[in-house]
Amino acid sequence: MPKLKVITFGCQANELDSARIVGLLAREGYNLTEDEGDADLIILNGCSIRDKAEQKLYSRLGTLQAVKARRPGLRLGVAGCLGQREGEALLRRFPYLDLVVGNGEHLAAIPRLLQVGGGRASASGAEPTGLFPSDVTIHRDSRVRAWVGIMEGCDNFCTFCVVPFARGRERSRPPDEILREVADLRRRGYREITLLGQTVNSYGLKLDPPVSLAELLRRIDREIDGAAWVRFTTSHPKDVTAELAEAMATLPSVCAHMHLPVQAGSSRTLARMRRTYTREEYLEKVRLLRAAVPGIGLTTDIIVGFPGESDDDFADTLGLMRTVGFDGCFAFKFSPRAGTPAAEDPDRIPEPVKADRLSQVLSLQNELSLLRNRVYIGRSVEVLVDRDLSKRESGLAAGRTRRNTIVHFGGGEVAEGSVVTVQITEATPHHLKGVLIASS
Ligand code: SAH
Ligand code: SF4
Ligand code: F3S
Repeated sequence: MPKLKVITFGCQANELDSARIVGLLAREGYNLTEDEGDADLIILNGCSIRDKAEQKLYSRLGTLQAVKARRPGLRLGVAGCLGQREGEALLRRFPYLDLVVGNGEHLAAIPRLLQVGGGRASASGAEPTGLFPSDVTIHRDSRVRAWVGIMEGCDNFCTFCVVPFARGRERSRPPDEILREVADLRRRGYREITLLGQTVNSYGLKLDPPVSLAELLRRIDREIDGAAWVRFTTSHPKDVTAELAEAMATLPSVCAHMHLPVQAGSSRTLARMRRTYTREEYLEKVRLLRAAVPGIGLTTDIIVGFPGESDDDFADTLGLMRTVGFDGCFAFKFSPRAGTPAAEDPDRIPEPVKADRLSQVLSLQNELSLLRNRVYIGRSVEVLVDRDLSKRESGLAAGRTRRNTIVHFGGGEVAEGSVVTVQITEATPHHLKGVLIASS
């Protein structure tokens, strides 16, 4: 049996695509291997969101060239957003590369490309417009958590972002298909289901008849009968509605966490980013969510050093972070991406300024996360046990709360996928520590 290894770069959309690749190639007789020295086919599922993400893949490809030199039968492929954007150019640039393919439904071309005997093949180019075939069984590493793609693409065209070009226009899966997948996951014992989309909360608005994410959550909640935790990511601030806040407040299965990228705290920068909301409108959405779901976990993404970002603009970002008191934040230095309007902006921020701003954001977030986490000392929280989060050296079990905070804890044996109660004794910026007080 031929052996396959998939190496994933980028976001959850790429992780899901990797799971689709494995499922697809399992039908062709491929078995998974962890060991690249043992693989017949290695696919690098690449990301283009920032220059660094691309460079990481290229350097990994370089090391694989040496592996291939020792084992000429090995085939190397690049897939994903990077494959989508670069296409055939990758075959020209890397003579030892065998195949290039895009993302989403384009992945379905991989088996055909592998048939191109001895040749090198590419099937990217056109922006994806469809959906990945739903009859392919997705390979899932975890037996507890599962991603469910509910939409593909993005229509927002933020001025810095490649996603709308790499993943095409927004399109949603029919709700019945999603419900079937969720029901099947529940039957197989999955305890946490994360609905995935680039702007997951604009799900379904363009379907005929339209369906909202809140409506989908209500249907899923009925279907799974509260027996699993449901999350969704990533939400766009403009699509946070009272209906969604209400669904989060009332549906027992839906977790009290939202990843709500703000990107910047100054309305001037937000307008230049074409985020379609102001600082005040963002804060209004936060108030709406907190009023409906007290204690909701809020995390965000921030870009520092966007073209034209003045010291005052940046101070607004730090100020907004304090005002909201995010639980967590991913922060990035602006990376100009060819083909996006922001890359043409001559008002570039020098690299040392970007680096300084990034470290200010990260250290402020550490402070804020610690403050948020300390509130839980002495309290009991529900934790969904997840082996992947436990650190072997500490011997502690681990999991996440409904607010998506990681908890490490001792005090007894717990089963993977069970929901247990933990009393919190210690807080750090990135996780909580505690003792098991009840397991069900
Ligand atoms: N769909 C999500 C974001 C997807 S990209 C949303 O709209 O919020 C993930 C994150 O990468 C973004 O939130 C942004 O913070 C960051 N990002 C995207 N393009 C970038 C660029 N050109 N430079 C730096 N960071 C970028
Ligand atoms: Fe990119 Fe903006 Fe779409 Fe998010 S909403 S994927 S940042 S274009
Ligand atoms: Fe990267 Fe594509 Fe995700 S560019 S961040 S893998 S949508």
